[in-house]
Amino acid sequence: MTDEPRAFAMVIEPNGHFVAVKDGETLLEAALRAGLTLPRSCRNGTCRACMCRLVDGEIAYRIEWPGLTAEEKAEGWILPCVALARSDVTIDQPDAREAAPDPRPARPRGF
Ligand code: FES
Repeated sequence: MTDEPRAFAMVIEPNGHFVAVKDGETLLEAALRAGLTLPRSCRNGTCRACMCRLVDGEIAYRIEWPGLTAEEKAEGWILPCVALARSDVTIDQPDAREAAPDPRPARPRGF
């Protein structure tokens, strides 16, 4: 038996981006770490900018009261900025993009 942290797979439809979600990491954090951009603003579950649908899998929330109504939750809407994977998941976020590389040349810190 190992003590390696668990990770789940996340597929972001409709483009089929594949991201590993580490234990304790939100779906948004996992996507950003993988070089993808998703709609977002507050990152604390209140603004709803990141709202998208969970197509498959299970999530839990990092906060007690994510900014969704009971009806929205029942319809499959989630807030990836505060959602933790509890299984492999598939979400539907048509606005997911690969982050553009920074065109500026690297500069030493402190300048
Ligand atoms: S970024 Fe504001 S609710 Fe997710």
